[in-house]
Amino acid sequence: MPEETWTEIDQYLTRTLVRPEDALEHALQASEAAGLPAIHVSPGQGKLLMLLARIQDAQRVLEIGTLAGYSTIWLARGLGKHGRIITLEADPKHAKIARDNFAKAGLTDIIDLRLGKALHTLPQLVAAGEKPFDLIFIDADKQHIPEYFSWALKLSRPGTIIVVDNVVRSGAVIETDKMEPNIAGVRRFLEMAGNDQRVSGTALQTVGSKGHDGFALLRVQG
Ligand code: SAH
Ligand code: DHB
Ligand code: MG
Repeated sequence: MPEETWTEIDQYLTRTLVRPEDALEHALQASEAAGLPAIHVSPGQGKLLMLLARIQDAQRVLEIGTLAGYSTIWLARGLGKHGRIITLEADPKHAKIARDNFAKAGLTDIIDLRLGKALHTLPQLVAAGEKPFDLIFIDADKQHIPEYFSWALKLSRPGTIIVVDNVVRSGAVIETDKMEPNIAGVRRFLEMAGNDQRVSGTALQTVGSKGHDGFALLRVQG
């Protein structure tokens, strides 16, 4: 089945069931207008994040990799009543567009964007004694996923859900002969998580408007 068909099916499912609200469409338009790359989650994946936040009755969400805040806004829509999100972004241009999008969506008080490289801001969260998060979405550079996963565990409690995006990359995950650092990061993470008794996880492939990719979903045991 050609990729255009996956996209058409994604559009059909988005139109019929997912039905993103206007604030999400506006965020994507602002992102495109500012020339940011279209590497946000698909609407269907965004709604999955929203539903996971609901299922978790999440009050505290951590996201690593904000871009224009599209996934952040989906997560925010799934939060409990006094819920808050901390989202980490290294690129000041992305952070500015994201903050504008949060303001337009009425989410300024709900979403706390921390500018800086995640390997710098994550230890700050731990040092500040942040309470454990209910849901953590890892979606920044792929090279450092293993380190982000280790920090995520430090910021978790039994029952925390950790979602890791882009673990398949059109099948590159099994092409070990020409391995880039991104893919090496993904593989190191999968092997690490699979051998870590503290988590129980799975990974699913996806096709759709974002091509062929996949995500991992893990639950901290206990
Ligand atoms: N979660 C977003 C997409 C994120 S794209 C969505 O689905 O809508 C990945 C983002 O991670 C980019 O904005 C990129 O600037 C950011 N990023 C890359 N390296 C980073 C790092 N070391 N620390 C924090 N953010 C980083
Ligand atoms: C890229 C990053 C992502 O988070 C994604 O979902 C797709 C692509 C990238 O860096 O190319
Ligand atoms: Mg991603």
